[in-house]
Amino acid sequence: MTIRLAATALEQAAALLRAGELVAFPTETVYGLGGDATNDESVAAIFAAKGRPRFNPLIVHLSRADEAEKIAQIDSRAALLMQRFWPGPLSLVLRRAPQCKVSLLASAGLDTLALRVPSHPLAIELLRSVGRPIAAPSANRSGRISPTTADHVLSELGGRIAAVLDGGPCRVGIESTVIDLTGKTPLVLRQGGVAAEEVEALLGPLAAPAGGEAPRAPGMLASHYAPNLPLRLDATSVEAGEALLAFGPDSPSGAKETLYLSKSRDVREAAANLFTMLRAVDRADFTAIAVMPIPEQGLGRAINDRLRRAATR
Ligand code: TXA
Ligand code: MG
Repeated sequence: MTIRLAATALEQAAALLRAGELVAFPTETVYGLGGDATNDESVAAIFAAKGRPRFNPLIVHLSRADEAEKIAQIDSRAALLMQRFWPGPLSLVLRRAPQCKVSLLASAGLDTLALRVPSHPLAIELLRSVGRPIAAPSANRSGRISPTTADHVLSELGGRIAAVLDGGPCRVGIESTVIDLTGKTPLVLRQGGVAAEEVEALLGPLAAPAGGEAPRAPGMLASHYAPNLPLRLDATSVEAGEALLAFGPDSPSGAKETLYLSKSRDVREAAANLFTMLRAVDRADFTAIAVMPIPEQGLGRAINDRLRRAATR
């Protein structure tokens, strides 16, 4: 049985985490499947609950930026990004500090760690109360759509985790941007809640990781975030039986159901709606999900990245 905890029961959630149990909690991006990052058994339980391949490392969440120094090596680029974007939807891949107490399993065998300070007030309060770094991948089964409400979490992981802390829907709605700072040139491992352009404004041009090697971020697996129905991208018309995710004020007619990612062409609003709406139309009474074109700018890049992966099967 997985219990649903109201925001007022935050201390109960913190106590469960300290005791090594798994608790899903809201962040500004998506719900995270939290476990004590310093407890090998908790981290192992996260992989088991998600059915996630072991080689995929986890993001470690902190309540404050200065905690990062005990865990990872912070260079001037990291310090700059932390100051500008934390708390917020940016994860930094850094080298582990020698005295780092985070489970090696969270790094999945790499000598690096992904860190982030989320900006959701409940998440910060929870992390502060637990007093330890919390490993938290998105609280969905491996390969499925990330959850942006407590109900989504329960439908993905109900019965597999101790509790979900219900903080309502997530504001950003798409996962954090992951930047790898372990090499000379910063790499974007995953587009996300902070637009890559904003990071480039501080660090200069970012590179994409070279293809061909083992995926460094599971967000990089070609097929990910997969709904059950086929997804048809860049749709400018609708075929019989399809549901439509529309973008902009005008949408083609003929859809069995139309949901607007954003009527006002706002990519932020579309990102916040993306996973909830993908779930809402992923129903057997439709033949496929058609999605209108989204501009490849700002958060639009993260949205298109998720859509392309969701369309790959
Ligand atoms: O917004 C988010 O980032 C959410 C919330 C809960 O914080 N978390 C999340 O975690 O999306 P997850 O595990 O689903 O995605 C973590 C991403 C993956 O693409 C993973 O491969 C990458 O970060 N990552 C984690 N540690 C890494 C490392 N040491 N090196 C390279 N990539 C890493
Ligand atoms: Mg995920």
